Amino acid sequence: MCGIVGYAGLEQAAPILLDGLERLEYRGYDSAGIAVLSEGKGLQLRKTKGRLKVLSALVDGGKALEGRMGIGHTRWATHGEPNDVNSHPHLSQNGQIAVVHNGIIENYLEIKEFLVSKGVHFCSDTDTEVVAQLLEYFCLQNGGNIMAAVYTVLDRIEGAYALGILCKDLPDSFIAARKDAPLLLGYGENCKFIASDVTAIIKHTRDVSYMEDGEVAVVSAGEIKVYDALGQPVEKEHSFIDWDVSAAEKGGYAHFMFKEIMEQPEAVRKTVSPRLKDGRVCFEELSLSEDYIRGLKKIFIVACGSSYHVGVVAKYNMERLLRRPVDVMLASEFRYADPLVDQDTLVIVISQSGETLDTMAALREAKKLGARILSVVNVVGSSIARESDDVLYTWAGPEIAVATTKAYSTQLVLLDMLGLYFADIIGSVSKEEYARLAEELQALPTKMEKVLENTEEIKYLASRYFNHASVFYIGRNLDYALGLEGSLKLKEISYIHSEAYASGELKHGTISLIEDGTLVVALGTYTPLFDKALSNIIEVKARGADIVALTTESRRGDMEKTVENVLTVPDTHIILQPSLGIVPLQLFAYYVALQRGCDIDKPRNLAKSVTVE
Ligand code: M6R
Repeated sequence: MCGIVGYAGLEQAAPILLDGLERLEYRGYDSAGIAVLSEGKGLQLRKTKGRLKVLSALVDGGKALEGRMGIGHTRWATHGEPNDVNSHPHLSQNGQIAVVHNGIIENYLEIKEFLVSKGVHFCSDTDTEVVAQLLEYFCLQNGGNIMAAVYTVLDRIEGAYALGILCKDLPDSFIAARKDAPLLLGYGENCKFIASDVTAIIKHTRDVSYMEDGEVAVVSAGEIKVYDALGQPVEKEHSFIDWDVSAAEKGGYAHFMFKEIMEQPEAVRKTVSPRLKDGRVCFEELSLSEDYIRGLKKIFIVACGSSYHVGVVAKYNMERLLRRPVDVMLASEFRYADPLVDQDTLVIVISQSGETLDTMAALREAKKLGARILSVVNVVGSSIARESDDVLYTWAGPEIAVATTKAYSTQLVLLDMLGLYFADIIGSVSKEEYARLAEELQALPTKMEKVLENTEEIKYLASRYFNHASVFYIGRNLDYALGLEGSLKLKEISYIHSEAYASGELKHGTISLIEDGTLVVALGTYTPLFDKALSNIIEVKARGADIVALTTESRRGDMEKTVENVLTVPDTHIILQPSLGIVPLQLFAYYVALQRGCDIDKPRNLAKSVTVE
């Protein structure tokens, strides 16, 4: 939520900041702003409600602002409506200090009251403005020492923050600080950066380091000095970002989401291949001993949104493979649920961004309870990855569209592989089943490619049903779990009300909503329960529902006896079937949203990475 970028170098800062913000816009797009400092013109600030293109027009692509150092922000509004005044950067009363912020200052009201009592006048309704005002207050108290003021302010504020601070009295450098919100440092030749994520700066440098909680950085064109919470210098470890710049660009596609759907076979291939050698699943990066795995009493999976949906599939699959209890819980519920987790529990944390605040909080809670943490993460070096005992990376590459697709698919397959790996060690899977699963894992990317070659029928169905007000996704077992994700994809990008139900539950209430013309997406890819799924389809059809059914190629004939609109995916091992089933559902959501003229990559009210509670 919210994107921050900062630059100090030899070039004009504003165009670089605007370009960085464009790449961070998926993190929030309610408003945007930049502040630039130059010797001649001083501190210049422009900000506006709306998308980045509005800001860009306002500053003539950056030409209107002069200065070789600056900070920028793209906002997902939390405190204060999205308007010009509440946009970042926020200025202190005397106009000397500008601040951009990602996170939430929880005690801002108390600080605001204190400052108001001292005669400070506030312009905005945001929590962030207190940081700018408090900095000015302590700066004046400290005889103008901005660094001392920064430390005093960081002691005073509570909550989560990644901060960029530009100060008129510091003509050659700006300041950054972080706690519980991501912020990285970028080291180019004669140019240095801060950014919420690497996509903002990869054009300029691949040499980065990640700020830790409590650290403060002083960034100038020539160097970045980092200090810990006590003001002691810190030597930062550098990481090299090896992905291609084009991976974070649309490359001729109309939308990132479509590009990312199409990239799934390759992403899955990259995730599977290094861990499947001579038909054996191996996780060289795991430090869990075989004894630990054999002794496992319980697995607990925590995650949010689509990552949680991966967890729901994994619960079915892992319990089937391991015959041990696997719980799955929404991360936002976990931390307040007094969960039954202890040192005998393996907690698996799933997150694309590795920065989701609820997931991070669940991880910390689980750690406190003594559990061992294994995370499945896409963004290398992210907070969740760094705080876990073990991390398995999904090699999906940068995912820009707010609606996840390739990250979901890679998480799914990685969890299946993990289940198989554990099952082999525990001895709960037969040699034959292991071999068949390994073979199908290998074949999965090619089968996904096959699904992606046939999009015409999906496009046609989307054009036929895009005007429906409400949709139900129904299925049993793994198809229910698949429906959760299919339904979320549709609702988040097309704004159509959509629900996923376990088919067997319909009769317990929901079927009363089915009437003439209600659209039901009926999932029948879980072949062991195909006949039961078919009975449920017949029930909703009898009540007037329009049905779009999804099944496997082997069951197409059976489905067509009952349903006119049948989509199919190739057959695979039952455990892997959701990896194929999700692809037509993503495409259906995409084409429906396209027909409705929605902003597919940046759906309203959403942001890619949810770093507030
Ligand atoms: O980065 P994470 O995987 O932790 O994100 C979790 C959810 O916010 C995310 O999956 C969200 O539900 C997506 N918008 C779904 O497409």
